[in-house]
Amino acid sequence: MSQISLARYLREQQRVLPVLDDALIRLLEQVAQACVGIGQALGQGALAGLLGAAGQDNVQGEAQKKLDVLANDLLIDAHVWGGHLAAMASEEMDDLYTLPDEMPRGDYLLAFDPLDGSSNIDVNVSVGTIFSVLRAPQRQAVSAADMLQTGRAQVAAGYAIYGPSTQWVLTLGAGVDVFTLDRSLGQFFLTERGLRIPEQTQEFAINMSNQRFWEAPVQRYVAELLAGREGVRGKDFNMRWVGSMVADVHRLLTRGGLFMYPIDAKTRAKGGRLRLLYEANPMAWLVEQAGGLASTGYERILDLSPQALHQRVAVMLGAREEVLRLEDMHRD
Ligand code: AHG
Ligand code: MN
Ligand code: MN
Repeated sequence: MSQISLARYLREQQRVLPVLDDALIRLLEQVAQACVGIGQALGQGALAGLLGAAGQDNVQGEAQKKLDVLANDLLIDAHVWGGHLAAMASEEMDDLYTLPDEMPRGDYLLAFDPLDGSSNIDVNVSVGTIFSVLRAPQRQAVSAADMLQTGRAQVAAGYAIYGPSTQWVLTLGAGVDVFTLDRSLGQFFLTERGLRIPEQTQEFAINMSNQRFWEAPVQRYVAELLAGREGVRGKDFNMRWVGSMVADVHRLLTRGGLFMYPIDAKTRAKGGRLRLLYEANPMAWLVEQAGGLASTGYERILDLSPQALHQRVAVMLGAREEVLRLEDMHRD
């Protein structure tokens, strides 16, 4: 079978998905092309003097890596001229990025984490880029408040994962499809349609070093997993923790599992570790489109009303049965 390129896939989908207009197709192709460029920069790594700290902190108060800044700039440069966006928001930029006056505006808003898992970049472990597309208001002036839309308002969401192969995972609200980069052509080709997360799992992902800081329901839930077949769950569990959300989520989208970054005593004041607009919401939509669930423990992530651009949130997402069990334990 001749390979289906991303360009062909998007135009075939356009015939069945009204949401997919020409501007959104151009937007998505530009995101994918920027990810090809980010992947190539990552691949050069030390040879291009791109590893290490950029020497300044971002709005999150985290030391930026050179590649955080480069990835952010590549995404801005890819979209500023296209005429399909009204504004952008990024983990690496304090405020909303509105287009320069001379640039044409469009109907969409783009929120992104240009380089997710950047603490792993200097040790050559998989990292990614996460993006979320929202509709812009039908008026010229756009403000940060226009970005504060519930996750259910997303029109497209996905991520690139820069691993042994570079893959691009996308949902338009009709399931989750996977593309793999042909590095010799610099093009993505469809390699998997309709990812499904099994309702049950024996694999969980959490940063266990935070255990003593978790709230009681998470303490109890994880203790049951660790008790294995001798405990109430009656089966043994396996654990993975990459430290790049994209890598941990890609694994559960591909072979099942549960990912947790709960609120803990250390992050409570900030609202959690992961950011709602460009980490939790896009990942939550992908997971629910693949038959899983995404919750804070108390409510579904996609139902939250964002209050701030860099708002943080507790994240528990993946296998339906496990998320339901966690929600029950948070209600008790
Ligand atoms: P980012 O590099 O964009 O700041 O994201 C890192 C996040 C997420 O990718 C990962 O799941 C989490 O940080 C890991 O946190 P710990 O280092 O506390 O485990
Ligand atoms: Mn991130
Ligand atoms: Mn990041």
